[in-house]
Amino acid sequence: MQTIKVAIAGFGSVGRATANLLLSRRGRYSQVYGADVRLVAVCGSRSGLRDENGLEADRLDNLEDALTGPDFIAASGADILIEAGPSDFRTGGPGLAYISSSLSTGRDTIVISKGALVHSGRQLRELARLSGAMLKLSGAAAAALPTIDLVHHSLKGCEVLEVEGILNATTNYLLDAMTTRGIGFDVALREAQQGGFAEADPRNDTEGWDTACKLLILANFGLGANLTMDDLNVQGIQSVTTELIEAWRREGHVPKLVGSLTHLNDTFRAEVGIRTYPLSDPFANIRGKDKAIRITTDAMGETIAIGAGKEPLATAAAALKDLEHILTARASSPLAE
Ligand SMILES: NC(=O)c1ccc[n+]([C@@H]2O[C@H](COP(=O)([O-])OP(=O)(O)OC[C@H]3O[C@@H](n4cnc5c(N)ncnc54)[C@H](OP(=O)(O)O)[C@@H]3O)[C@@H](O)[C@H]2O)c1
Repeated sequence: MQTIKVAIAGFGSVGRATANLLLSRRGRYSQVYGADVRLVAVCGSRSGLRDENGLEADRLDNLEDALTGPDFIAASGADILIEAGPSDFRTGGPGLAYISSSLSTGRDTIVISKGALVHSGRQLRELARLSGAMLKLSGAAAAALPTIDLVHHSLKGCEVLEVEGILNATTNYLLDAMTTRGIGFDVALREAQQGGFAEADPRNDTEGWDTACKLLILANFGLGANLTMDDLNVQGIQSVTTELIEAWRREGHVPKLVGSLTHLNDTFRAEVGIRTYPLSDPFANIRGKDKAIRITTDAMGETIAIGAGKEPLATAAAALKDLEHILTARASSPLAE
């Protein structure tokens, strides 16, 4: 049986959910892939834990001070890094150092935070290419909603002509609440904050940046584009009024915050903004915190996926789907023991 050592950098709600789900699935990894998957290191910003024999769930509440950073992860001997730190697309965030260090030393890397992928995507892809490390990012590209996997697997070989995505749960919740219950933006936002799924500072969601990050990651890592945030026109939902919603409703239209992309003659154009849909369109019926993507290809026409999952479990599961892709690739590699 092959031993596969996994480390997790960023140990908040998603990092912890990922650790617990991974530990609960060890039997599956051993049965399906013949792999003894061990969690050998975890760390937050100030503390961590390491054991090359594998950490169990009951030890994960007792992190030790000063055990953190890319060198700490490297010293754990991990074969695979799962990065789940905070996201900052303007600087790359702390994830950038972890991911760069991991890829440059050939460690397969699963990224959940979006910041480094948006800020330095091209450099990270190049590091992976040079070292031969696998770079996976389902957790960063709308998580429970399959996006990258759709183009890499289900639509393989087709040319993607157009993408439309409702990619942010919070803004869909807000617009849906305003449309179906007639409440104002501020009331809907307070409700979402009290429900724990809108941040105290919601601008990353409401101004469209989170949608833009996911769209950019899908474009660059899924479709081979080379877009930066400067290439995107990004508009949010912060100025949607009840009057506007009422006017759309009278026309039989439902507003959604949509990331859209067109691909023509090797040119990609992407933007984020409000689009309205007639009730007959599946996008008009994406409710609450659900997300959706519509991909139009040259040969398979239109494909729609709709997804929702309870967080942070759904994001952890998306990252561990990537882990299984890596285990599959490793099991079929000629170097597999
Ligand atoms: N929550 C969700 O439902 C969801 C869904 C999809 C994607 N995501 C993405 O997943 C990532 C994690 O989200 P979360 O909700 O788990 O956030 P969180 O609870 O705030 O956790 C972030 C973690 O990152 C750690 N961290 C900060 N700086 C670090 C550094 N320099 N080195 C190592 N660790 C560092 C923090 O450490 P301390 O505890 O020491 O501060 C904390 O453990 C974010 O990028 C988010 O965008 C989240």
